[in-house]
Amino acid sequence: MRLRARSALRKHRLGCRWNPLEAAVIPETIEIAGAIAAAVVAASPTPPSPHPSKIAAGRERDALFDDPSLQGMETVAAGIQVCRRCGLWRDATQGVPGEGLPQATLMFVGEQPGDLEDLRGRPFVGPAGELFDRALAEAGIAREACYVTNAVKHFKHEMRGKRRLHKTPNAGEIEACRWWLQNEVRLVAPRVVVAMGATAARAVVGRPVSVLKERGPAAPAPDRPPAFVTVHPSYLLRIPDKAARHRAFSDFVLDLAAAKALSR
Ligand code: URA
Repeated sequence: MRLRARSALRKHRLGCRWNPLEAAVIPETIEIAGAIAAAVVAASPTPPSPHPSKIAAGRERDALFDDPSLQGMETVAAGIQVCRRCGLWRDATQGVPGEGLPQATLMFVGEQPGDLEDLRGRPFVGPAGELFDRALAEAGIAREACYVTNAVKHFKHEMRGKRRLHKTPNAGEIEACRWWLQNEVRLVAPRVVVAMGATAARAVVGRPVSVLKERGPAAPAPDRPPAFVTVHPSYLLRIPDKAARHRAFSDFVLDLAAAKALSR
């Protein structure tokens, strides 16, 4: 039946004589083909290519998320997903908003999501996150009682073969993403914001900061809660000498404990 329909269509296209017997099966065949196509589409979970949908959402973002007093962390999280304030969204799987207690007294800010964070959509769930969790535990801080986020919400990286290698965000990207961090700080209103590493310190303090020179409580400022500058957990992971790494870890724990004391 399908062959007859195809031959009727071909003849019709070529201007051949119309065979009414063959023509009679065309509607039925078209109907069957339509049903097959619909079933194939329904059965295959093919998510749309991210780019066109992200671009459309980006236009909506301009209207929805540029209000300087965004209401609610869900709105901030939704805005981060469609953010086009810099170009980092293009290569990332998703934006990674902060998470934790909405009224936390302590807020921790890292640099940007890493490979695992980008895939899972949650901050500090990879190797740096494991070290961070251990340091929090040693400092007597419950992570679930804090708010944990990043200065930059998309994973900046470059491909090396199949590996995605971390790249440090530049000043423009940090500045573009401060929009989200400032909204998070305003909504949580923590007593202390702990900036871990130079990127976070720049975003929290609002200027370039030398972490090792300015480690500890930052000078007070009227436009933000008290800030505390310390090293990034990844820095500790990179220290090759074991004894030096242990010392640096203990110092990091002391910093977290000092920040906690400040937040009481
Ligand atoms: N490093 C960060 O700064 N943030 C994360 O979420 C993970 C690693």
